[in-house]
Amino acid sequence: MGGRSHGNPFSAVLSGLLDQRSNEARVTPVPSDVRLDGRTCLVTGANSGLGKATAIRLAKRGAHVIMACRSGIPEAGEDVKRQSVNDKVEMMQIDLSDFESIDRFCDELRNRNVTLDVAVFNAGVVPATSRTNKHGLDLMFAVNFVAKFVLLDRLLRAGVIPNAVYGNNSRADDPPRVIFVSSETHRSSIPIDFDHFGEPVEYGISDGVKYYGLSKLHLTTYFHELSRRLNQGVDGSPDVCVHALCPGAINSNMAREAPAWLKPILKPVMALFFQSPEKASLPVDYLVVSDEMGRKTGGFMHMMRMKESSEASMDPKKGALLWSKTEELLRTQGVL
Ligand SMILES: NC(=O)c1ccc[n+]([C@@H]2O[C@H](COP(=O)([O-])OP(=O)(O)OC[C@H]3O[C@@H](n4cnc5c(N)ncnc54)[C@H](OP(=O)(O)O)[C@@H]3O)[C@@H](O)[C@H]2O)c1
Repeated sequence: MGGRSHGNPFSAVLSGLLDQRSNEARVTPVPSDVRLDGRTCLVTGANSGLGKATAIRLAKRGAHVIMACRSGIPEAGEDVKRQSVNDKVEMMQIDLSDFESIDRFCDELRNRNVTLDVAVFNAGVVPATSRTNKHGLDLMFAVNFVAKFVLLDRLLRAGVIPNAVYGNNSRADDPPRVIFVSSETHRSSIPIDFDHFGEPVEYGISDGVKYYGLSKLHLTTYFHELSRRLNQGVDGSPDVCVHALCPGAINSNMAREAPAWLKPILKPVMALFFQSPEKASLPVDYLVVSDEMGRKTGGFMHMMRMKESSEASMDPKKGALLWSKTEELLRTQGVL
């Protein structure tokens, strides 16, 4: 399964179907009576698909849920409140392709003295063809990877996510959890091009999936490096539990930019064979709620199975290089 091709839309759909039929050992979902009362959970991209289903799940457990969204305000929040029967659900605006928007979002959390117990970095995008954001970065690279780096940098420095590395109220006895929604497509990605790091590339619909996989390889490599950096020298329990997952193929809005000719094929295939967002949110829930994942860091799940992410993504040398190249890029952008 590890090397299965995701190079084009058809192989990606086929791979999603095959993954659902795998009979590798799965973890057991956390019972619904395990509560998150008094906990504050951030979910990005929570107006749609997996993010919304995750927001509903966490709100049903009693959490205060902050839905960080670009659109769907306030309707999606009202719907999450209604479905979870929990009023402690709020929406905050953020455009993850815009560094100024990320800064405004973090400033607001800091000014309100919010402390996050859980942060689920779910939002992602698959444009039909390559395009750049207002900072001149490839949109998929920016939203699927760089935005997470910047958002986390701000939240950790401000102590909105308590941690020891930035000297902000380490809470090793009750570590916060940071969860990244990645994708199995990171396994079959082309390697990260460190020599042309951050330079926009051109792609169309046929090779968009390849660059989507690359954006998820950036994210998965970053997730391991973040986990290592936040938990240096930790022998026992981690200071911040950092985990990632691939939710498997979801019948969501992810293919919204697929070309008109492909939609009549994709829609019924997705509706028939792909998981519902509710089912796909089970592994996110597991990473957020289970005792097991609160005692360790660096865990990767593919649907309800624990497994290692790709070898390349776990390589500490690549992780360190990715970190320094991203910092360099963000310095040239005036963001760091
Ligand atoms: N669908 C799959 O088969 C699949 C498989 C593996 C992994 N995933 C991953 O699962 C995650 C959730 O995707 P989904 O399937 O639930 O798709 P979705 O329904 O399209 O949800 C994507 C979410 O990301 C948000 N988003 C996109 N660009 C943004 C931006 N610039 N600023 C803020 N929010 C932005 C979207 O907001 P708007 O509605 O405002 O655009 C939406 O809330 C993604 O990371 C995706 O890569 C999906």
